[in-house]
Amino acid sequence: MTEAELYTLYKGVYVPKCLHPPESLKFYEEFAFRPDDILIVTYPKSGTTWMQEIVPLIMSGGDPASVETLPNWDRVPWLEEHRAYILDLDKRPSPRMFSTHFHYNMMPPAFFEAKPKVIYVMRNPKDVFTSSFHYYAMTSFLVNPGPQNEFLHKFLDGKVMFGSWFDHVKGWLSAADKERVMPISYEELIMDLKDSVARIAQFVEKPLDTEVIEKIADRCLFKNMKQNNMSNYSAVPHEYMDQTKSEFLRKGIAGDWKNQLTVAEVEYFDAVYKEKMKDVKYKFVWDQHKLDERA
Ligand code: A3P
Repeated sequence: MTEAELYTLYKGVYVPKCLHPPESLKFYEEFAFRPDDILIVTYPKSGTTWMQEIVPLIMSGGDPASVETLPNWDRVPWLEEHRAYILDLDKRPSPRMFSTHFHYNMMPPAFFEAKPKVIYVMRNPKDVFTSSFHYYAMTSFLVNPGPQNEFLHKFLDGKVMFGSWFDHVKGWLSAADKERVMPISYEELIMDLKDSVARIAQFVEKPLDTEVIEKIADRCLFKNMKQNNMSNYSAVPHEYMDQTKSEFLRKGIAGDWKNQLTVAEVEYFDAVYKEKMKDVKYKFVWDQHKLDERA
């Protein structure tokens, strides 16, 4: 199936039709944010599910009840998805937790008025590409990636769901109200999960004891999260996600792009990255540390 058949063009980016019917996009446009809401913002395949495990555990002081009983999409729902308007989100007690893949300039007016806290999770775009390549091949609501080189061009041109990785990252990194936005990368979580949990807890103003932080970090290790049926997408029917082709929690490492991209593809990727990111001052972890050895 093609982009025209599976996607809607919404505010300039593709969104999968079946997850984001017009009513759900309208619901989001009119959504009443509260200043104490916590929003996990990501470009797809950057660590959304991981953060949907970490943040509820922080907010519950380490109590695993919600991560053991609620699937991640109801625990920290995506505001743009069709489920959002059947979950009675206005009845949830504060502080509420939500997710979104929206770009900064797509956010609805109430977001800019209420100024909820944002945890912005980024990941090396080469690994986002790699993860996406496998994900697009196992989902029925996304356009089949086709040959890798073709998908690479689509990805770098932003002709994939939620548009350009470059625009997404640049938009959120230049958000106003910087003290309300915490940028953190997938690679930081990989390098030091305990420290990342502690920093996130501080940002959401939830003081936690060291033992609780350690317990949360342990639960959120890839091998442990993979066992959680409320987070590993095993509850999604086979017709939507075929995990025999590729698991949702696939490898969970930094630097898998080295096993995926050809030398020529890396050169092309680097050239596009250099050009698109030339004005960005932010020091990305993947540009500074040799995480590749972990692949
Ligand atoms: P891979 O496909 O590279 O394994 P999202 O939730 O935004 O769709 O991102 C999915 C990616 O995050 C997948 O990457 C998945 O394996 C990885 N991921 C999820 N939970 C993780 C964890 N606890 N540790 C490391 N990676 C995790």
